[in-house]
This record gives sequence, structure tokens and C-alpha cells, in this order.
Amino acid sequence: MTTSSPWRATVLTLFPEMFPGPLGVSLAGRALAAGLWELEARDIRASATDRHRSVDDTPAGGGPGMVLRADILAAATDAVGVASDRPRLLMSPRGRPLTQSRVQELAAGPGPLIVCGRFEGVDQRVIDARALEEVSIGDYVLSGGEIAAFAVIDACVRLLPGVMGKEASGAEESFSDGLLEYPQYTRPQLFEGVPIPPILLSGDHARVAAWRRAEAEALTAARRPDLMKKAASQKAPKDKTDG
Ligand code: ADE
Repeated sequence: MTTSSPWRATVLTLFPEMFPGPLGVSLAGRALAAGLWELEARDIRASATDRHRSVDDTPAGGGPGMVLRADILAAATDAVGVASDRPRLLMSPRGRPLTQSRVQELAAGPGPLIVCGRFEGVDQRVIDARALEEVSIGDYVLSGGEIAAFAVIDACVRLLPGVMGKEASGAEESFSDGLLEYPQYTRPQLFEGVPIPPILLSGDHARVAAWRRAEAEALTAARRPDLMKKAASQKAPKDKTDG
């Protein structure tokens, strides 16, 4: 009989001491302590071969900064075991933007190997040779991939079975139905003269649901017209079968 091992994130980084960092507290941290997932931070520098343990060098063709060497990163990647079916991500601002659907796929699998870039970049040959999937968490530049890796792992871990427990409200959250989340309220009933919208206190679940849907659509249309278009095109075929 085989007992399947928990979902695991393996991070290749020059700063392993950054981990678990924010992933060691709150929801992800409690789940980590409970053994619902595993985190392994490996030092890329451990694969360095020279006396100075150097991992980077100047860019071929000139230019500023330093480039992570292909041979060092390949050795670090291979030491994890690239033969496995685990996705191999490289955090990079030039990657494909991370989406909730990619997060769902990653959470459903065995867990990714995540390479954190630093310096001006990573030698293209190791990206190609090890089929690293470049992933961005947004159109801005971080000083390294570690903070982006935190984001990827956190987004996955909260979807793992048993992690959210009673807090689970995944289905209603922003992006799970392609819309941003409706506004939330709680006590006190009056805050600086502003009441909770009365409909939310009406006890009429159908009207509450309709109000929330309308609010979510209005918010999405105002802030993220791109998502609105996507949600509309996804909804169309379903409405047909419903009717
Ligand atoms: N490394 C630096 N900037 C990044 C970004 N926006 N996304 C992913 N990795 C990065």
C-alpha cells in the first residue's frame, strides 16, 4: 500500500534563510506545522564548484549586472530530480502572468519546483534545457523571485484539502467565478455615520445574493474591464444550457 506524500514546494534560491518567512505563520504556517504540505528551500550556491562559490557572471555581449550561470542552476535543478512530473517554474517579470486557474492546476499536482531568479537574469540555455516555465506575478520588477515564490505558494496552499477548513469560501471569492469580490460588512451596524446596507440585514438570502452579484459586476466593470469581458464570454454557453 502506498501513502501519497503531501503537496510539496521546493524552492531554489540564493537566500534560503528567507523561507518559510511569511509562509510559516497564519493559515499556511498552521497547515505546514500540521503536515498538510511541505516546504523545502535549497541554496543554489550549494551547487557552485569554485573556491569562491560563485553562481553568476557578467552578461555575454556586455551590459549591466550579473547573470545566473546555466551550469550552476542546472546542477541545482538536477539535484532535486527533474525526472519527476513536478512543474518547474522560474519566477520572472517576463513570464506568463500567474492566474487563479494556473494556481488551481499547481495545487492539484504534486507541487512545483520554483527557481528564484536574481541579478539581471538567468542564462537562457538552462531555461530551455530544463524547460523552466517562466511565471510573473505582475507587471512590476521585484529585486528577486523569492517574494513572487511566496505569492505562488500561498495561493496554492490555501486551496489544498483541509487547509481552509471553516474559513473556506473559495467558491465566492474574487476570480473563482471571474469577478472581483463584492463588498463585505460586519458590526458595528453604524460606522462613522455609515450604516451596513440594509438589504444585508433583511434575511432574504435570494435578494442578498442578487445584490452581491450586482455589486461584484459593477466593481469588476469599473476596475477590471478585462475580467468583465472574460466572465461574460465564459457565462454565455452555461446560460444557454440553464435556460
Ligand atoms: N522577479 C522579479 N520581478 C518579478 C515578477 N514581477 N514576477 C515574478 N518574478 C519576479
